Amino acid sequence: MIQPPYRTLSNGVIMPLLGLGVYDIYHREAETAVLSALEIGYRLIDTAPLYQNETQVGNAIRQSGIARSELFITTKVSNQDQGFESTLRAFDQSLKKLNTDYIDLYMIHWPIRQTRAASWLALCKLLELKRVRAVGVANYLVPFIEEMSAYSSQLPMVNQVEFTPWLFQRELLDYCVARNILLQSYSPLTRGIKLKDPRLKSLCQKYRRTPAQIILRWNLDHGISTIPKSSSRERLQENFSIFDFQLTREEIQELDGLNENFRICEDPISLY
Ligand SMILES: NC(=O)c1ccc[n+]([C@@H]2O[C@H](COP(=O)([O-])OP(=O)(O)OC[C@H]3O[C@@H](n4cnc5c(N)ncnc54)[C@H](OP(=O)(O)O)[C@@H]3O)[C@@H](O)[C@H]2O)c1
Repeated sequence: MIQPPYRTLSNGVIMPLLGLGVYDIYHREAETAVLSALEIGYRLIDTAPLYQNETQVGNAIRQSGIARSELFITTKVSNQDQGFESTLRAFDQSLKKLNTDYIDLYMIHWPIRQTRAASWLALCKLLELKRVRAVGVANYLVPFIEEMSAYSSQLPMVNQVEFTPWLFQRELLDYCVARNILLQSYSPLTRGIKLKDPRLKSLCQKYRRTPAQIILRWNLDHGISTIPKSSSRERLQENFSIFDFQLTREEIQELDGLNENFRICEDPISLY
């Protein structure tokens, strides 16, 4: 079976760079999508309590028969659960729903002003207790990470942010690379909105790939992780079939140049 490329995080934990995001898939559809993804070869699944499908992710993992140690499960602490004790409680709930006894990567979902420091300390506690293998944040721009030194000496291992050619955050990427924080792209396919951009056409023709495959390859060629969502087995396979080609440096730069600060989700700066 084809294996996705891996990256060693700052604490030595190995993480697959391509995973399945499961936002906006529910009930049986979520279970089926995760099971299909695992059959195809995906090993990283990104969920969150907000997505209301941790139970289905847990069910699919069990049904897959794949050893837990081969999987990389990410979940997050929701905004309303942030705070030290409440994060620890939310973590236990996620664990129960996912039917597992550890999480590979536990993240702060959004940098909520009043509670992000205490929540981070709770994540560090979970790391110390070996209940999580790695800790991360999501939607953290440079000022949020800079601020962390005031309350913790532990940097996140991963920062999950919206990141596409149309939202090419070079400064944030360079900042994370310099600190050995792995950037992970969410909504990498712009939920389909930008896939018809005519400027992708020549690369699609050259490599005989779809726009989605070109964009996901651009993520990997930047050395970052990416977690496209799909509930279709065909598109799950399509999104996974990107390990046998590479963009040139010029082509990567050409795609970087599509930046227009286009966002699907809220700009986290409003939370600073
Ligand atoms: N931390 C955060 O705040 C945050 C925010 C947003 C997202 N995320 C994470 O990132 C994951 C991915 O982001 P997302 O779900 O927002 O959007 P996305 O992955 O950019 O796009 C998903 C959409 O694209 C379609 N699609 C998938 N593969 C395709 C392909 N090959 N060709 C054409 N269309 C395709 C899917 O439809 P089908 O399902 O019909 O294939 C779905 O409508 C989420 O699931 C979640 O895990 C995190």
